[in-house]
Amino acid sequence: MAKLLAGLGTSHVPSIAAALDKGLRDSAEWKPFFDGYIPAQKWVADHKPDIAVVVYNDHGNSFFLDRVPTLALGVAENYRPADEGWGPRAVPDFQGADDFAWHLADRMVEGHFDPLICRELDVDHGLQVPMELVFGRPEAWPVKVVPILINTIQYPIPTPQRMWDLGRLLRRAIESYPTDEKVLVMGTGGLSHQLQGARAGFINPTADREWIARIGSDPERYRTMSREDYVEEFGSEGAELIMWLVMRGCMDETVNTLFDHYFAPASMTGAGMVLLENMR
Ligand code: DHB
Ligand code: FE
Repeated sequence: MAKLLAGLGTSHVPSIAAALDKGLRDSAEWKPFFDGYIPAQKWVADHKPDIAVVVYNDHGNSFFLDRVPTLALGVAENYRPADEGWGPRAVPDFQGADDFAWHLADRMVEGHFDPLICRELDVDHGLQVPMELVFGRPEAWPVKVVPILINTIQYPIPTPQRMWDLGRLLRRAIESYPTDEKVLVMGTGGLSHQLQGARAGFINPTADREWIARIGSDPERYRTMSREDYVEEFGSEGAELIMWLVMRGCMDETVNTLFDHYFAPASMTGAGMVLLENMR
C-alpha cells in the first residue's frame, strides 16, 4: 500500500517566485528566507517521495468569483503553470498522478467530501511556489502531483474542523492505494497577511511563531478555532492557514517536527515552513 512519507506546511507567497525569477535568491533581503528551507529540501531529496499532494487555493487564476468550488481535485495527466499576468515562467509543467487522484476522488465521495473534478487545470502560485521551495528549479519535477483546491477566497470558506476531517480521510485514502509509492502531503498558504480593507498590510509574527511551534505538537487549538478567529489572528488572507490542517489531519496525533522556519515579512506576509514526520 502507498505510504504517507511526511507532512509539510509552507507559505506560497508569489513574491517568492518573483525573487527566484529575478535572480534574488542570494540577495541580502531574501537569502535568510530561502536558506531556512535547505534542511527540509535535503530531507525530501533523501527520502524521495513519488507523489506530492498539494493542498492550496486558486487566487482567481483558474476559478474566478463567478464560479468558486469549495473543494476541487485535479485528476489530469499534466498541469500547466498559470500565467498570472507577468508572462510565462521558466517552470516546467507538473506531471499529474492521475490514477492515484481518481482513487482519491472515489474515497472522497464515498466519505461524503464531494470535490469538483478537474480534468484540466492551470496551477497558480499556490502550487508553484511550494514546489519550488521544496524541489528547487529542476528541469523536470521529481514527483507527480495531485492538486487539492480549497476555497479560501470567497466567503463562506470551509471550517477548520472540515479541513481536519478531510485530512483524516486523505490519510485512509493514501494508505488504501495499492502501490508502494511514497506520498508527501503539502498544506500551503499563510502565514499572517491581509491584502485588503482597513487592515491591509496586517501581519502578526507572534501568532505566526506560535503556529509554527504548535501545529505539530498541539494542533487541537487550531482545529477548534472559528473562521472568524483565523481572520482576526492571521488576517483575512492569513486564513489560508486552514489548509495546513488538511496536512496535519493526515498525520498521526503525535508527530516529530523535523524542521521549522519563520521569516517576516516576505512581501507583506509572515512566511515559513514546518516538516512533520509520524513517529512510527
Ligand atoms: C500574496 C498573495 C498570496 O496568495 C499569499 O498567500 C500571500 C501574499 C501577495 O500578493 O502578496
Ligand atoms: Fe495565497
